[in-house]
Amino acid sequence: MCARSTVVVQPAAGLTGTVVPPADKSIAHRAAMLSALAPGTSRIVNWPRSADPASTLACLQQLGVKTGEEDGVLLIHGGAFRAPVAPLDCGNSGTTMRLLSGMLAGQDLKATLIGDASLTPRPMKRIMDPLSRMGARIESTRGHAPLTVTGNPALQGITYRLPVASAQVKSAVLLAGLYADGETTVVETTPSRDHTERMLGLSTVQIGEERHITSSAADRPQPGIWSIPGDFSAAAFFLVAGSIVPNASIRITGVGLNPSRTALLDMLRAMGALIETRNERTVGGEALADLTVTSQSLSSIQVSGGMVANAIDELPILCVACCAASGTSHIRGAEELRHKETDRIQAMTSGLRALGADITEHEDGWTIRGGAPLSGGHVESCHDHRIAMALGVAALTASGSVHIHGADIAAVSYPGFWDELGRVAGR
Ligand code: S3P
Repeated sequence: MCARSTVVVQPAAGLTGTVVPPADKSIAHRAAMLSALAPGTSRIVNWPRSADPASTLACLQQLGVKTGEEDGVLLIHGGAFRAPVAPLDCGNSGTTMRLLSGMLAGQDLKATLIGDASLTPRPMKRIMDPLSRMGARIESTRGHAPLTVTGNPALQGITYRLPVASAQVKSAVLLAGLYADGETTVVETTPSRDHTERMLGLSTVQIGEERHITSSAADRPQPGIWSIPGDFSAAAFFLVAGSIVPNASIRITGVGLNPSRTALLDMLRAMGALIETRNERTVGGEALADLTVTSQSLSSIQVSGGMVANAIDELPILCVACCAASGTSHIRGAEELRHKETDRIQAMTSGLRALGADITEHEDGWTIRGGAPLSGGHVESCHDHRIAMALGVAALTASGSVHIHGADIAAVSYPGFWDELGRVAGR
C-alpha cells in the first residue's frame, strides 16, 4: 500500500549550495544497541532525527533502557533489560527487527517484534535459522513478522556461512554470539558493510575469498562515546543530482566513507562523474570527508554480482544516473533488491518508465538505455524512502513537473530531504 502525501518536483536549471547529510542510520542503530547492552552510560553524538533509528530507540526504551539528552548528545543507560509489556514496533526498519532479534536471542526474556505494512512481508527466516541453531526460540508467521523471540541465556556459539550477502544477518548472529557459550563465527564470501565488527572490535580473518568474523562473551561492549558520521547513502542522492543536472556544483560535508559503503562513488567516477574528496579525517574509527560534485556528462556502466553488496542501497539512485548517461548500462546480480522496503527492481522500473526512461526489468536488475528524455508525470514511492528520493532526483532532469506520491516516507532515513532538494535547486 502506498501513502498519498505528494511532493511536486520541478525541473532544475542548476544546483548549488552545501548539504549536510543526516547521520548514518546503519551506525546509529548499532550505536544505540551496543550502548543498551553496555553496563553504564554511553553517549551518542550526532544522533539522527530519522524515523528508522527512532524505532530502534523506542524498542530499547520498551525493553527498560533509560535514555536522556545532554547538550544535544543522546545518553543511553544500558546493561539491563526487562520483558516488554507490549510488542516492540520496529516500524519500517529491517535493521531494527533483525539486529534486535539477534540482541535478544541471548537475553532471559520474551518479546514480540512487529513492523509496518512494508516490513511485515520481508524475509525473516534468514535470521531465524541461525539464531534457532544457537538455541533461541523464534516464532513467526511463515517466516515473517510478527516475530516472538524467546531468549536463551545458554546460547551455543556456531559457525555460520551466510547464504545471502547481508550485513543484517551477519550482525544478528554476531550480536547473539556475545551471549553464547564459546565462539560464534560468521563466514561471508561477499563482504557486506562492516560496522558491527568495527564497532565491537571483532576479530576478522581473511581466508582466501572468505571473511571469518568472530564474536564471543569477551567482546561484550563497554559504555563509551559514539560519534556518528553523515550517511553516505543519503549523500548519494546529491552526488547523482550534482552529476546529472547541468550547471550544478554541490558540497556535501561530513560524509562517512567506510569502504564497505562507498562502491557508488567508484561507480560514478567510472562513469565520468567529477567528485572531489576534501578534508579527509577519521571520527570514531570511521573515515569521513567533504565531497564536492560538479555536473559532468556520464557514460554507461556495467554492474554485476560482486559489485552489488557495497552499493546495495544506492542502486535505485544509480539507475537514475544511468538514465542520464550515454550508452546502455546493465545492473545485474541485485535480486536482493526485491526484498527491501519494497521490490526496488519493480518500483524503479515503473517509476522511471512513467517518466519516459528506456528501462528493462530483469529478475536481478535492469538494462537502461541512457539518454531518453524524461518528461513530467506521476510516480509512487511505494512506501520506500530510497525510491521516493531517487525519483525526486530523476525529476530534476525531467521536462515538466513530477508528482511523487507517498513522498513523506523519505523521513525514514532523511528528514528534510525535500526542503534540501528545493534549496539546492534555488527554490
Ligand atoms: C543494513 C544492511 C543492508 C541495507 C540496509 C541497512 C544494515 O541490508 O540494505 O539498508 O544496517 O546492516 P542487508 O544487510 O539485508 O542487505
